[in-house]
Amino acid sequence: MIDLRSDTVTKPTKAMLEAMFNAEVGDNVLEHDPTVRKLELKAAEMFGMEDALFCPSGTMTNQIALNVHTVPGNEVICHRHAHIYNYEGGGAAFNSGLQIRTAGNDYGHITAEEIKPLINGWGDVHACPTGLISMENTSNKGGGTCMDLNELKAIGQLASENGLPYHMDGARLFNALVANNESPKDYGQLFDSISICLSKGLGCPVGSLLLGSHDFIVAANRVRKRFGGGMRQAGYLAAAGIYALDHHVERLAEDHARARRLEDALSNHKAVAAIKPVETNIVIFKLKEGYDAKAWMEELAKQEISIIAMSATDLRMVTHHDINDADIEEVIRRIQAID
Ligand SMILES: Cc1ncc(COP(=O)(O)O)c(C=O)c1O
Repeated sequence: MIDLRSDTVTKPTKAMLEAMFNAEVGDNVLEHDPTVRKLELKAAEMFGMEDALFCPSGTMTNQIALNVHTVPGNEVICHRHAHIYNYEGGGAAFNSGLQIRTAGNDYGHITAEEIKPLINGWGDVHACPTGLISMENTSNKGGGTCMDLNELKAIGQLASENGLPYHMDGARLFNALVANNESPKDYGQLFDSISICLSKGLGCPVGSLLLGSHDFIVAANRVRKRFGGGMRQAGYLAAAGIYALDHHVERLAEDHARARRLEDALSNHKAVAAIKPVETNIVIFKLKEGYDAKAWMEELAKQEISIIAMSATDLRMVTHHDINDADIEEVIRRIQAID
C-alpha cells in the first residue's frame, strides 16, 4: 500500500526505535523525565524561547495554548481553514468557553488588514472581546501553503498594539522553515506560544511540543494535567523527538520535491480542474464537473494507493518520510491510467 493520506502515517525507522529503546526515563508527572526535559530544552533553544512542554498531540498543545491565553467568553481570531476551528472537535468552546472569528483566502493566507477590523475590545457590551490571534503555518486545509513572514510580523505588531497574545499552530512549521529557508528563531521572537508536531513530517510515532515563556509553560503544565496529558515514562517517546529534530528536518525538502512531481503530473490530467499551489508536502486538487472524488479515491484504493477526499470534489495527497521516488512514479502511472 502506498499511503498518501497524511504525513501522520509514518512508522519509526530502525534508528529512531534504537534511540527510543535506549532512552533514560523517569516519571514525568512526579518530576522531570530526563529525556523529555532534554527534548523540551532542545526545542526551546532551537526557537530561542524560554521553555517547552511535551504533549501527546498537536490538538492538545493548541487547546492548552487557547486555554492559557484566554478567559471564557473571549473570541479567537484565526484563518477560516484553521485546524483549531475545523478539526479539534469544537475544543475551543468545550474546553475554554471560546468562540472563533475567521477570515482569509482559500490558500490559508490571512492579512493584518483583514484582521484589524475583527479585533474587539472590552468597551462595547454587545461584542465578544478578542482574547487571542492564532496563525497556522503551513496551512493544512490551504494545501500546505506558507504564510509570508513579513505578514506574520505585521499581524504580530497588530496583536501587540492591542495587547493580545499571538499563537502559532506550527504542526508543520518545519516544512515552512525548510521551504523558505527561515530560522526557527524568526518565529520564536514573534510568537507568545508555538505548537510544533513531531508526529507529522518529522516521522515520530507520537508527540507535540508547546513553546513559550517560563510563566506560560508553568500554566500550560497545569492545564496539560487537567486535560489528562500528563505522561509518565514519556522519555521513550521524547527520544524519538530528539532523533527527529537531529535527522529528519532537512530531508523535508525531499518530500516537497516529490509533492511538486505529483503536482506536475496532475496538472496534465484531463480530470483535474485545479491544484492548490504546492509549496511543501501537501497536494490538494479539485476534479472537474462530472468527476467524483470518492470514486477516484476508491479506484486508487483498489490499486493499493490511499488518498483522502476533502470534499465531494477535492482530494488530498501528502508526501512523507515513508514515500520514496519509486512510490511517486508508481502513483503517477496509476493516476494517468484513470479515466
Ligand atoms: C495544522 C494542524 N494543527 C494541529 C493538528 C493536530 O495534531 P494531532 O493530530 O497531533 O492532534 C493537525 C493534525 O493534522 C494539523 O494539521
